[in-house]
Amino acid sequence: MTERLTIRRPDDWHVHLRDGAMLQAVAGFTARQFARAIIMPNLTPPVTDVAAAEAYRDRILAALGEGADFTPLMTCYLTDDSDTEAIAAGHAAGVFTACKLYPAHATTNSAHGVTDILKLTRVLETLQRIGMPLLIHGEVTDRSIDIFDREAVFVERVLTPLTRDYPALKIVLEHITTAEAAAFVTEAAHPIAATITPQHLLINRNALFDGGLRPHAYCLPVLKRETHRLAVRRAAVSGSPRFFLGTDSAPHVVGAKQSGCGCAGIFNAPHALEAYLKVFEEEDALDRFEGFASEHGARFYGLPLNEGTVTLVRGAAEVPARIGEGDTAVVPFMAGETLAWRFEG
Ligand code: DOR
Ligand code: ZN
Repeated sequence: MTERLTIRRPDDWHVHLRDGAMLQAVAGFTARQFARAIIMPNLTPPVTDVAAAEAYRDRILAALGEGADFTPLMTCYLTDDSDTEAIAAGHAAGVFTACKLYPAHATTNSAHGVTDILKLTRVLETLQRIGMPLLIHGEVTDRSIDIFDREAVFVERVLTPLTRDYPALKIVLEHITTAEAAAFVTEAAHPIAATITPQHLLINRNALFDGGLRPHAYCLPVLKRETHRLAVRRAAVSGSPRFFLGTDSAPHVVGAKQSGCGCAGIFNAPHALEAYLKVFEEEDALDRFEGFASEHGARFYGLPLNEGTVTLVRGAAEVPARIGEGDTAVVPFMAGETLAWRFEG
C-alpha cells in the first residue's frame, strides 16, 4: 500500500477567495496546498476591469502576508457591456489570465452576467484571436428547465453552437457535473477542457436530503444523480489532459447557508487535495493524480509547470465541524469526517 505520495506542486483552476474578512480567513487554505489558482471574479461589485483585478490581486497577496509562495491568476467577469479592448490589453499586460462567463442569474453574484451570448460576439472573436481562455459556468438559466438538467441543456443549446462558431476559442467548462458534459469535453474536436470539484466526485444528490435538508451539500451546478457522478469520476481519473483540478471552493458564512434561502457553495479548500486523493485511490488511479492536479491545467492554459513538490502521507485526518468564528464561521466540506490522507506540505 502506498504510504507517501509526492507530486509536483498542484494548482487550483477554480476558486472563490471572496474579499474583506472572509478573504483573510480563507486565502491561506488555498495557498497552503496550491502554487497558483484561478480566482473567480464574482465579488460585489464584480471584477470587470483591469484596475479592479489589480486591486483584488493586491488584497489577496496582502491577506497572505510576506513570503507567501502563491500566485493568484485573475479573471475578468464578462457582462453585456464588456470592453473588448480593455480585456485584451489586460491580458497582454499579464493581469487577466482568462475571462469568466456567468449566464445572468445562474448562480451567486451573477446578476451582472451575460443575458445573451450573442452580445459577446466581439469579445469572443478577440479571445479566440489572442488565445485567452473563456471559462464558462455552463448552465442555462431558463426557469422552465429542471435544475438538474440545466448543464446538459447548456451543452446542447449553447456550448455546441459556440464551439462550432469559434473553432479555435479555448474553453474551460467549469465544475462539470454530468455525463453529457464529460462526454462533450472528451469527444469534441475543439480546444476545450473541464474542471472537476471534489464534491462532484465524492457525493451525489442524495447527500442534499440525507435524513433532512443539508445546506452544506448545496452548490451550483447542483449535485446530480449517481450515474453522472460515476461518469465525472471516470473522466477525472481517465488520464485525459482535458480534465483537471478546480475546487470551486466557495465559502459562505454558516448563517447564510443554514437559512430559509441558503446560498450555493461548498467550502472545500482546507482538505481539497486529500479529498481528490481519496477518489484517485478508490479508483486505483494514484498514478494519474499528478497529471490531474499538477499538469493538465497548466498545459491547457499554456503556463509553465510548477517547480517543487508537495507530499501527502497516509494517516487519519479529522475534518473540523466548523472553521472560524463570527462573520467568517464556515462549515467545511466533509465536516466531521475522517480522511485517510494527510497533507504534509
Ligand atoms: O455553488 C456555487 N457557489 N457555484 C457557483 O457557481 C458560485 C459559487 C459562489 O460564488 O458561492
Ligand atoms: Zn465557482
